[in-house]
Amino acid sequence: MTIESALLPVEDLVAAVDSFLAASPAARAWDVETAFDWAAADAGRLSEGQRSAVQFVTLIEDHLPGYFDVYQRSFPVDDTVDLPTFIHNRELHHFTVRWALEEDTHSRALARYQEASGMADRSALRGELAVEGQKSFELPYTHPVQYFAYALVQEKATQMYYHQLRDVVDDPVLGAVLTRLSRDEARHFSFMADVVTRYLRTQGDDAVEPIREVIAGFRMPLADTLRGYWRWALRIADVADYDHTAAYDHLIKVIDRAVDARTDRVDELADFVAQCRTLG
Ligand SMILES: [Fe+2]
Ligand SMILES: [Fe+2]
Repeated sequence: MTIESALLPVEDLVAAVDSFLAASPAARAWDVETAFDWAAADAGRLSEGQRSAVQFVTLIEDHLPGYFDVYQRSFPVDDTVDLPTFIHNRELHHFTVRWALEEDTHSRALARYQEASGMADRSALRGELAVEGQKSFELPYTHPVQYFAYALVQEKATQMYYHQLRDVVDDPVLGAVLTRLSRDEARHFSFMADVVTRYLRTQGDDAVEPIREVIAGFRMPLADTLRGYWRWALRIADVADYDHTAAYDHLIKVIDRAVDARTDRVDELADFVAQCRTLG
């Protein structure tokens, strides 16, 4: 199966993009320059583990060009695709550019926090981020729903992580940054959940196996390329759990709400996702 042959009907995609943009009015937007009292940022109020957590999520967010490139390559907006596919991809692009702007803002906000709070020197940080940022990021998927199912888990996992971290940090400036970030991730999650729901409603069982494959092979962004990723993930676990499987419960809810009556295949998918959830 090719990506093109399994795309969501364009009207469904348009509805999802319109809802996302309606939930993201300019009046609710924020920017790095004016949203925070940077002069008050103080990393001295953070524990060692909390500073590591900030460094970790800065690296994850800073890989935005790599994530954006995946969408550009998988949903091209050029003459390599037929006209109906272009129409679909052009509509998706309205979402993708907005999303990319927001994720890029996240990376700038976290880097700015590191600098303003005394955690890092700006030019040294730039060099460190570049080492990981340059590494390629691939999602080897064959069905379009897989890109959205992957992002659904990833957006929910980061939303939950920022929320937990915000609850334990003692620097109000970092708390304010994490509040902004987790609200944005919640909106991104809602878009992904909407799209996955529409795939399940329009394609039924045909969308089930591709979603199962995403969960079976799930890796958080940079898990394969970031030096010492797992050691790092363990080190910050005492601060707030960076556990993407916690997001699986939300995927199960999306699956449940999408289908009126569960088929055997949908049942198996929900069971499988639940089993992949880390206990404890
Ligand atoms: Fe983000
Ligand atoms: Fe996001």
